[in-house]
Amino acid sequence: MQNELNAVKVADKTYWVGIVDDRKVPFHRLILEKGTTYNSYLMMTEKPTLIDTVDISFGREFVEKMSGLMDLDDLAYVVVNHVEPDHAGALPALLSKARNAVIVTTALGAELLKDMFRIRNREFLIVNDGDSLDIGGKTLQFLETPYLHTAETMVTYAVEDKVLYPCDQFSTHIAAHELFNDLAEEDYLNDFETYYKLIMGPHRPYVRKMLEKVADLEINMIAPSHGYILREDPQRFISLYDEMSALSTSGETKRVTIVYSTMTGNTRKLAQQLAEAIADQGMVVSEYNLKNADIKEVADSIRSSDGLLVGSSTRYADMVGDIEKLLQELTKTEVKNIPAAAFGSYGWSGEATLHIENYLEEAGFQVINERHLLGNHGYDMSLFPLRVKFIDEEGLERARQAGELFSEKVLTQ
Ligand code: FEO
Repeated sequence: MQNELNAVKVADKTYWVGIVDDRKVPFHRLILEKGTTYNSYLMMTEKPTLIDTVDISFGREFVEKMSGLMDLDDLAYVVVNHVEPDHAGALPALLSKARNAVIVTTALGAELLKDMFRIRNREFLIVNDGDSLDIGGKTLQFLETPYLHTAETMVTYAVEDKVLYPCDQFSTHIAAHELFNDLAEEDYLNDFETYYKLIMGPHRPYVRKMLEKVADLEINMIAPSHGYILREDPQRFISLYDEMSALSTSGETKRVTIVYSTMTGNTRKLAQQLAEAIADQGMVVSEYNLKNADIKEVADSIRSSDGLLVGSSTRYADMVGDIEKLLQELTKTEVKNIPAAAFGSYGWSGEATLHIENYLEEAGFQVINERHLLGNHGYDMSLFPLRVKFIDEEGLERARQAGELFSEKVLTQ
């Protein structure tokens, strides 16, 4: 639908001014095979307001597009829901032309924008959870939704229109030229769910908090910043997030077995960090150093567990100790289809984790590794297989994060 602004109308006085990116987009360590969109929304109210910008690589194109739509000196506010460069990347280019625009974001968002994009001598309006802003003909309400997808994130709700602008949340990585989900030419539900699993799932407790907040809102449309604008049956997508983030209802305490062989003790340190992080989530952890444990007892523990972590140091590009013997045993016996992952410290190349993964797959476990998680959940590198060179604070922190992530996998089984 075109209008006098030559832009797609989304809601009353509100227009999509984003970019469709048809490329196989490199994104963290993922390649987005179906491309994506960077959705940005312009509200032509008495105080014209933009909700998020677009990817940094489209900065110039975006500013040209915006300049063709309005006198950028009239832009009153730019709302930054999330500071990552695929949404805030065009902000510096835009601000150089939109000289009067005030940046609306969270306190942490403002700090990050100043650091990342060297934004100086500009006015910020810092908003807190539940704050509202009158933009002359519309009211915007802001709700903090940390870690969805990074710490500073918030969502914006257009009160009169009943439209939620949640940035990364409820997104899909797909170059959706049709823009609206009711016009979708192909089934995108699988892509919607995959996006959730990769990007939101690791932050499940925060998804639950977000769902509690938005439960109080009347939502007629969800306008995220990637992929389809969900104007048909938005509640369905809220329900899908609810289902995907719900804990198992079995009521039973979950059990995880951690088993490892270690040469210098570094792999043991990783095992301990993993065990602590998992126990903190209320699960029972059985931890075995194979040097002192009976393989049959360990195999029995695995069979009664809901998750399995197997670790080994690497020596001569291989596993050490009796880990291989244990894994061979597992491939011969019936094991449940439960989440499993590999970890290990190394000094040179760290192949042990790859051998472990191969055995785990052969034995029928759901192996958690790069192919399922990739680096797309707020960390710079994937967490599983957990491979740490020697050991240091950063490595131990990664082990803790990996333990949290693994817990989420087990708890939502
Ligand atoms: Fe779409 Fe977290 O960026």
